[in-house]
Amino acid sequence: MTVVVIGAAGDLGRRVVRFLEARGAAVRPFTRRDGYDLADVASLDTAFAGARAVFLQSSPSREQVDLETNAIEAAERAGVARIVKLSNIPLAGLDAGLHGNHRVIERRLAASRVASTLVQPSFFTTVVERQRDALDRGYIVLPFGRGKLAWVDPDDIAEVAAEALVRDLDGAIVVTGPEALDGDEVARRLSVKRLDPPIDEWREMVAGSGMDPWLLDSTVHLFEAVARGALAGVSPDVQRVLGRPPRRAFRL
Ligand SMILES: NC(=O)c1ccc[n+]([C@@H]2O[C@H](COP(=O)([O-])OP(=O)(O)OC[C@H]3O[C@@H](n4cnc5c(N)ncnc54)[C@H](OP(=O)(O)O)[C@@H]3O)[C@@H](O)[C@H]2O)c1
Repeated sequence: MTVVVIGAAGDLGRRVVRFLEARGAAVRPFTRRDGYDLADVASLDTAFAGARAVFLQSSPSREQVDLETNAIEAAERAGVARIVKLSNIPLAGLDAGLHGNHRVIERRLAASRVASTLVQPSFFTTVVERQRDALDRGYIVLPFGRGKLAWVDPDDIAEVAAEALVRDLDGAIVVTGPEALDGDEVARRLSVKRLDPPIDEWREMVAGSGMDPWLLDSTVHLFEAVARGALAGVSPDVQRVLGRPPRRAFRL
């Protein structure tokens, strides 16, 4: 069976490729460095020809709905049997921005004749690596107060996605780690000091770094939800799908 992996050269995509190959699937990488692009419909048609399934992901951006819709339409044209979409966990009150985009794409998939699986992860543990400079200086910025978060190891997301692709699993799979950790505990496991600035201060700090205001707004709303404990739930789905508990986050 041939599976197209969008973003196969990225951190998560590489892991999905590894778990697919371990399950005997033939992988067709879809990467911008090889000339494929979700914005380029002809490249989608070329890549999807004869494929049985697609792992669909893209970057958090304003264009996400258009880009992923291009892929869904190409899958419909090519007669692909299944799309496994990397999404996020739906949160009450977050209906616009990044979360809104994922919900729109999920509804488009539900209306498609292509079968689909939604992989809905919590925060990836690897996002802390985006603060490499701070970590090297001995601190990390986690601006969500006492809120706990069930951080997930990206290997668990990738392995669940591979299972869904190979075993044709339907529905939504919520992927979290085995426990919810607050920011202080994350800092302790990483052996650094934690900074927890008020969210308005954090927004001002980051706005100067050139982050798209649309993404910045979405991130602020997300951190406010985390502070309220909205992502503290631990999901049974890794155990259900993989038959083992999720990996521990930031293992010491
Ligand atoms: N990070 C988290 O904690 C988290 C939590 C829950 C959900 N999510 C969701 O997971 C998804 C990925 O997030 P991320 O932070 O991992 O993003 P990311 O680092 O930007 O990775 C996105 C991947 O998609 C590929 N991609 C993006 N645009 C593309 C295009 N036009 N054509 C082909 N490939 C394209 C990228 O390929 P290149 O290698 O070419 O850049 C990259 O491999 C997002 O939808 C996000 O909402 C993330």
